[in-house]
Amino acid sequence: MIVGDGPAAPATRRLFFALWPDESTRTALVQATRKAVRRSGGRPVPQANYHVTLAFLGNQPVERYDAIVAAAATLTPRPIQLELDRFGYWPRPRVFWLGPARCPEALAGLADALWTAMTPLGLARETRPYRPHVTLARKVVALPEVESPTPLIWQASEFALIESVTDERGARYTVAARFSSGSPHDPN
Ligand code: 2AM
Repeated sequence: MIVGDGPAAPATRRLFFALWPDESTRTALVQATRKAVRRSGGRPVPQANYHVTLAFLGNQPVERYDAIVAAAATLTPRPIQLELDRFGYWPRPRVFWLGPARCPEALAGLADALWTAMTPLGLARETRPYRPHVTLARKVVALPEVESPTPLIWQASEFALIESVTDERGARYTVAARFSSGSPHDPN
């Protein structure tokens, strides 16, 4: 009997659009949430992975990548002022997060515009209501008893396409492209 490798798995990239914090925002996020994350008892998300998802695309065929970037590059993001002022907990994914009590219109508009740009490529628009958040810890069993956070202002003038690669140490995110004024910038 000849045992082959079987059919090759289709080549895919796991992708999502996100607001990606600069270093000072990342540091401020860590300082504002450290205590609460400890109290949550969950598995802390590495600070290098902090982000606000705009549109989660999932595993996409590699051939679709250029079209995804080109479609996102047609958008002109407005500056977004995001006030992160509340902690929250979702029992099903068991995540503890920081988010805004009110989603800024510019942010909801960008998430919506991204899906509108993605649907002609064959991607199915997200059906869940958009809930911007920074996931801080996973495997959390209940909303931790924590004080409200000191509101943190995140000024975002660009968004990014992020690639997620999972290895034995967990998910690692890398910036695949940045979008600020209608054109993608290769970060590499
Ligand atoms: P995140 O917590 O890292 O942002 C796929 O479901 C991914 O989309 C989740 O892992 C989560 O990633 C994000 N997500 C889940 N529910 C969401 C919602 N209601 N609004 C926006 N992003 C969401």
